[in-house]
Amino acid sequence: MCGIVGVLGNHHVAPLLVEALKRLEYRGYDSAGIATVNEGRLDRRRAVGKLVNLSDLLVHEPLTGRSGIGHTRWATHGAATVANAHPHRAGNVAVVHNGIIENYRDLRAELTSAGYSFESETDTETVALLMRHELAQGRTPAEATARILPRLHGAFALCFLFEGEDDLIICARKGSPLAIGHGDGEMFVGSDAIALAPMTDRITYLEEGDWAVITRKGAEIFDSEGRHANRAMTRIQIDATRIEKAGFKHFMAKEIAEQPVVLADALRHYLRDGGLNLPAEVDFNGVDRLTLVACGTAHYACHVAKYWFESLAGLPCDIDIASEFRYRAPPLSERGWAVFVSQSGETADTLAALRYAQDKVARTLAVVNVTTSSIARECDVTLPIMAGVEVGVASTKAFTCQLTVLLALALKAAQDRGRLTEAQLSAHLADLRLLPGLMNAVLTLAPEIEALAEELAKAQDVLFLGRGAMYPLALEGALKLKEISYIHAEGYASGELKHGPIALIDASVPVLVLAPRDALFEKTVSNMQEVMARHGRVLLLSDQPGVAEAGAECWRCLTLPQVPDLLAPILYAVPAQLLAYHTAIAKGTDVDQPRNLAKSVTVE
Ligand code: F6R
Repeated sequence: MCGIVGVLGNHHVAPLLVEALKRLEYRGYDSAGIATVNEGRLDRRRAVGKLVNLSDLLVHEPLTGRSGIGHTRWATHGAATVANAHPHRAGNVAVVHNGIIENYRDLRAELTSAGYSFESETDTETVALLMRHELAQGRTPAEATARILPRLHGAFALCFLFEGEDDLIICARKGSPLAIGHGDGEMFVGSDAIALAPMTDRITYLEEGDWAVITRKGAEIFDSEGRHANRAMTRIQIDATRIEKAGFKHFMAKEIAEQPVVLADALRHYLRDGGLNLPAEVDFNGVDRLTLVACGTAHYACHVAKYWFESLAGLPCDIDIASEFRYRAPPLSERGWAVFVSQSGETADTLAALRYAQDKVARTLAVVNVTTSSIARECDVTLPIMAGVEVGVASTKAFTCQLTVLLALALKAAQDRGRLTEAQLSAHLADLRLLPGLMNAVLTLAPEIEALAEELAKAQDVLFLGRGAMYPLALEGALKLKEISYIHAEGYASGELKHGPIALIDASVPVLVLAPRDALFEKTVSNMQEVMARHGRVLLLSDQPGVAEAGAECWRCLTLPQVPDLLAPILYAVPAQLLAYHTAIAKGTDVDQPRNLAKSVTVE
């Protein structure tokens, strides 16, 4: 979603701002802009669409100045137009903003009756005007900030620049993350540390409610009560090369290919000395219920995990979509644990769900990729998924790493609850160690999958079917396909097809069946027969015994390696990702930044 960057530099900052915004491109955006102060004069440039449009504009209308702020905007209030793009300016102040000012209507009405007029449809412009109003009363930028922040409802990260102030940026965070970077006689601000990685590895994360007055000498940080706050400076280890495409055409392709390696990293972390290696607090004795909450792909990982927690550990397990969970006011067990799964660790809905659950359960666990994220910091226990930076908007390696960590957690629950003998646990762990090798084998099927994708690209609608833990995988396969190829795709539980969706079947609808030859296979074959009897075209993804048994009548088959039942959802995710990827390529869509989507969804 939106990205923020700010620089107090020693040279002209416009190129640096654009470069930093490029590193935030992966978050998703539809317009961009920068503002600088040059010898006291505040000026800005904004453009709709990709950053290249802003760069082109800057060639014709350059911006000079050693202080500046920049922004990539993902439209919420008002369409993607130049007038709505950030930075927003009101007189002597410019501001960039992530998040939503929920009371902007009231503020807008108040400012309008005070005689101010608006140039945009955004909620952000109210903040610029509030600041302008306070400055007009003779207040300093810091005094004005202290007065306006308590008036803003909702979640936000803000970064201000002021006319006449060549050595000042003021920033604030509530709900949306913000990091301050320390250079040598230079200072930086970024909505994530990735943007700042080439400029500095010394970072201070602002905490909830913090705001900061930044000059080239350093940052003075205040908490929400206006008291001086000491926030630690940490060194980040973002190896800049890890967010490059490394020879791949797209980040998504690179991230799919990386899965055997990152999965092996996760396994090395969670499986040690012949057993499971989880933090000491992860002891399921006395835990009576588990609640898993997440959004999108991370939610489907929870859905798969529900099958594992119930079947392996006999532990009652609820799963929920974060945006629904929070506002349904679900009763939670005091002896229960709540697990929040999120690649970014910043998803606003998941964060709100965590805050709802925090004082209602015995323990909160974060299963996240970004260990410095808000969700990680606010949970009692953090289990990193070790996927490395994920840039492609469509989550791939984070999904399989989430599944791997959740499976380790389910095995621990089974062990603690006396549901597994030592021998059974060892057998499962030995199976898990096979995963990276099996994934490598699946990756070699890419040319075959590419040929299938050419066929899928001609379809208008595609259905995905699965049974048991393969059902959530059908949901995930459909999500992956629709989000990057824009082909309408739906996932269903195989047995549910006849209760309605079968009406959609005709010869034009490919039906992807995700079905390893397991105990449920025969039931799924019956559902495939129902599809084929209505001239539906079945693409069967199974193993050699499955394809031998049921492949003959199918439209197409893809033969995957045989895999222990527990691991099938992790392994079968890879062909689903590759199918989506190659279908999107065949359709010519923007794979890494599909339309309307954002990587880190920081608004509710
Ligand atoms: C789909 C996708 C999204 C995310 C969802 C949650 O490919 O990536 O559905 O899974 O927005 O994001 P995180 O995991 O960052 O909370």
